[in-house]
Amino acid sequence: MSESQAGAGGALSEAQIAVHWKEETKIPPPPEFVGQANLTDPGVFERFSLDNFPECFKEYAELLSWDTYWHTMLDTSDAPCWKWFVGGRLNASYNCVDRHLEKYKNKAALIYVPEPEDEAHVAITYRELYVRVNELAALLRDFAGLKKGDRVTLHMPMVPELPVTMLACARLGVIHSEVFGGFSGKSCGERIADSGSRVLITIDGYWRSGTKIDHKGNADIAVETAESLDQTVEKVLVWKRYAGEPLSKTPMVEGRDYFVDDILPDYRGRRVDPVPVAAEDPLFLMYTSGTTGRPKGCQHSTGGYMAYVTGTSKYIEDIHPEDVYWCMADIGWITGHSYIVYGPLALAATSVMYEGVPTYPDAGRAWRIAERLDVNIFHTAPTTIRMLRKAGPDEAKKYNYRFKHMTTVGEPIEPLVWNWYHQVVGKSQAVIVDTWWQTETGGFLCSTTPGLHPMKPGSAGPAVPGIHPVIFDEDGNEIPSGSGIAGNICIRNPWPGAFQTIWGDRERFVETYYAKYCKDPKSKDWRDWPYFAGDGAMLSDDGYYRILGRVDDVINVSGHRLGTKELESAALTVDEVAEAAVVPVADDVKGRAPEMYVSLKPGIAADDQVEKRIVTAIEGMIGKIARPKHVYIVPDMPKTRSGKIMRRVLAAISNTLDVGDVTTLANPDVVEDIRVMVQGEGKVETRKGPEDLERFGQET
Ligand code: PRX
Repeated sequence: MSESQAGAGGALSEAQIAVHWKEETKIPPPPEFVGQANLTDPGVFERFSLDNFPECFKEYAELLSWDTYWHTMLDTSDAPCWKWFVGGRLNASYNCVDRHLEKYKNKAALIYVPEPEDEAHVAITYRELYVRVNELAALLRDFAGLKKGDRVTLHMPMVPELPVTMLACARLGVIHSEVFGGFSGKSCGERIADSGSRVLITIDGYWRSGTKIDHKGNADIAVETAESLDQTVEKVLVWKRYAGEPLSKTPMVEGRDYFVDDILPDYRGRRVDPVPVAAEDPLFLMYTSGTTGRPKGCQHSTGGYMAYVTGTSKYIEDIHPEDVYWCMADIGWITGHSYIVYGPLALAATSVMYEGVPTYPDAGRAWRIAERLDVNIFHTAPTTIRMLRKAGPDEAKKYNYRFKHMTTVGEPIEPLVWNWYHQVVGKSQAVIVDTWWQTETGGFLCSTTPGLHPMKPGSAGPAVPGIHPVIFDEDGNEIPSGSGIAGNICIRNPWPGAFQTIWGDRERFVETYYAKYCKDPKSKDWRDWPYFAGDGAMLSDDGYYRILGRVDDVINVSGHRLGTKELESAALTVDEVAEAAVVPVADDVKGRAPEMYVSLKPGIAADDQVEKRIVTAIEGMIGKIARPKHVYIVPDMPKTRSGKIMRRVLAAISNTLDVGDVTTLANPDVVEDIRVMVQGEGKVETRKGPEDLERFGQET
């Protein structure tokens, strides 16, 4: 592990503050589930073994409709930028919409549930989706001048216009880059500049927790930010949440901003032939946080990505066209792209989208939606499960719905919470998959295969078909199963859903994900390039993986990734702040939360105003999701003699872990001052530090 990850002045990573719960007993999937499951043939693991790699992925590719069939399954000549299904041509919008018309044109593709409960649901049939996608594609091409290969930034919340816009882009071969609606205008502007988008697509406003959010103002900040980074936005297309009077009071800029509703009637009835793109042409970019301040634009392919999300939606999510599938993630994150839009729609599913907060206006909302729509597949994150459990531990029992399948994704889930999900939400009748994956990976990596494996609360499970993980220590030695030792989880082989590169930064791509365990950087053999996921993990005797959390400077807050460097740079823009350090702290609901320690410039006294300014800076530069749990203004940062901030000590204090030996620091006395500030006067009982926990690779 590099020093920035866990060295002398480094952070205490999420994986190291993880609490290791005991091994749980396995629970078999209910027979009613197995009886109807898409995948019950145990031979699948033999078919997807490394001996049959990469040909095994033909099974996934054949779930799609191709304009031209590929000639080469996997081209490794530009390792580690893998090319899948080379020679093949297809269109993602055709695969998600047009091809279902013959059989399913009158079936709901999307059911939209607005947050205000008195507002009617909107069911969009495959036919209606087809019409909307075509008309918008015509507008994007003829009015906005977009063409294959152009990038366009979307900054949209959970409204049906978001998947319509994504699919319209895909129809033209335009690369969409959706920025989560809760991110600030400034964050959006930076992503516009990085991707080189000339067009921004947004909305006037939306509902969040009973409040109307004025969103259009963010577009003005985004355009200004992009301009300051030398990227001009020529057009801003603004959807309206309601027809008529716009929700936003922010004025439209003449010659730049256009309401989509005003122009769309000109394109009524227009049809746009789906553009067949090469399998390796990018479908979209999705920005995510890393160890440096600059977010990374993960570039996903069309053919490989579509094949992988369709295959995993079918076999791991067990989606059949008859199902009512509800993934409560936001489409602004990878989960929504893969498992609300592209995977489910490629399978002709009915995919439910909910605009708002799961507990609005009360703890029963999610279950009322499930009951009313007869949802039978439910997909959410541990943070939401914890929130629902806290708000109404028995609420789900009052509603008459029946889930056959439930997913948890994004963070480790404690067995206690898993059991509540299973018994109360799932009424002990649903199978649960705990899916481990990442923005970069396009789709699931580890999970039980629901019709084949028993579930084990607290463990993601074995790998999904075609994925071959390995846990390495720092020196690249394989850590065996059942050793109780954690290490860095890697994937031995490429897979079609893996991102192709970081947009415009191949070097960073190779360095971050493939360099660590590559023995020969010139090699064109995939066996030499294990994928480094950046997560700590342990493998038990039975082949089930338990994910502990990030090993780098990333904090996974409520299942969303935040780079500590991004928060620290935001704090440093506040005049009074001299130094800032962010550490992960365990949180009952969010899993992990960022805590911030700052020291002020000489002569400046700590007061509430400084704290407020720091929080405002973070919200303005990143978004509300990045708000730290606490901001501590400390007299000085604990430092090594060479002047490095000891984030490890700060994280130990935040997490009531033992701080260990601090006598060699430049300023050891400050540690106790900070401890008292955070934990109070009395001596608090500490948990043993990571040095005493399972060894993390060779590090401790
Ligand atoms: O640390 C892992 C955690 O979330 C990270 C990926 O975050 P992101 O790219 O935002 O994607 C989230 C949705 C896929 C991982 O590096 N993570 C994801 N799923 C799990 C998980 N940790 C434990 N268990 C999971 N099931």
